[in-house]
Amino acid sequence: MTLRPKAFALVLAIGIAGVTTAVLAHQGATGVVKERMDGMGMLQEAVKQVGQMLRGNGAIDPETTRRAGQALQAHAGSQMTDLFPEGSLMPPSEALDVIWTDWAEFERLAAELDRAAQGLSSAAASNRAGVQAAFADVASTCKACHEKFREKKD
Ligand code: HEC
Repeated sequence: MTLRPKAFALVLAIGIAGVTTAVLAHQGATGVVKERMDGMGMLQEAVKQVGQMLRGNGAIDPETTRRAGQALQAHAGSQMTDLFPEGSLMPPSEALDVIWTDWAEFERLAAELDRAAQGLSSAAASNRAGVQAAFADVASTCKACHEKFREKKD
């Protein structure tokens, strides 16, 4: 599909608006809320890099895969949950207070991310299908936690 210039400009504008909203949502965050948002941003960056690699037709780069796995581990397990002290819902946080009524499940998913990230690092030496499967594991963990513990964005 070739987009006509006008349509392309529109797509570009929407893309840029999306980025600006994310930056604004983050603005004004301080303390643990800022720390965990920064950590989540790092997770998103790592996921994006592996996603782009998998979407491309080039070879799977073991180094990119391993580094992404390590980056994910740096904000998983207790490294993540330590940044959620009880009741820390200061704006602009999008965290839900069910985190503290269902703390065991929150911790379980954070630990699950650690395991999935380790799996991604280990899959670095395998083929595309192996990396894809490990990546799907990571992505479904992000999703499971957000569905339960983060405000829905529409
Ligand atoms: C154990 C739960 C959990 C897991 C696992 C998890 N997240 Fe999050 N994530 C949250 C919560 C809760 C918030 C909202 C934090 C806040 O706003 O205070 C959040 C927020 C975010 C944000 C928004 C940050 C901002 O600046 O507003 C991004 C991006 C994000 N997560 C990406 C990811 C990615 C990518 C993964 C998987 C690699 C992931 N998260 C895994 C719970 C989780």
